[in-house]
Amino acid sequence: MAYRILFVCLGNICRSPSAEGVLRVRAAERGVALEIDSAGTGDWHVGEPPYGPMQRAARTRGYDLSRLRARQVAAEDFHRFDLIIAMDPSNLENLERLRPAQGGAELRLFTDYAPGSGATEVPDPYYTRDFDGTLELIERAAEGLLDVLSR
Ligand code: 4NP
Repeated sequence: MAYRILFVCLGNICRSPSAEGVLRVRAAERGVALEIDSAGTGDWHVGEPPYGPMQRAARTRGYDLSRLRARQVAAEDFHRFDLIIAMDPSNLENLERLRPAQGGAELRLFTDYAPGSGATEVPDPYYTRDFDGTLELIERAAEGLLDVLSR
């Protein structure tokens, strides 16, 4: 079975769907078989496609996010995935609270895979409006993650 990765942010309409789209393309390019999904800790945008300006910035860099739909993360996800990756420390804290007693998926921050960047979180472009800056960091962390998985 392919290794299963879940990206988690707050709304599941900017950062985590972008990470899903970027990793899907980069994994295919490097021939790494992965099952990839994304979810939000919040439920405000459930059922919605990724945020328009985020989709357009991603599309320009070669990532089609149009078919993704937001969902809320659930405790069962810790048993459905091998690795759950949070976009910022607040997401990580919410996930630690949701984590079932019986372990399950490994839990990490996405910036752990981009140590040279100096970033300790993936900034939320819904608020910063820097969609390209966020995509650059996501691309860097995705390559770092694939390096770890290819070892
Ligand atoms: P995301 O950004 O967590 O990267 O999807 C957000 C988008 C919308 C909201 C929060 C975060 N919101 O509260 O509507």
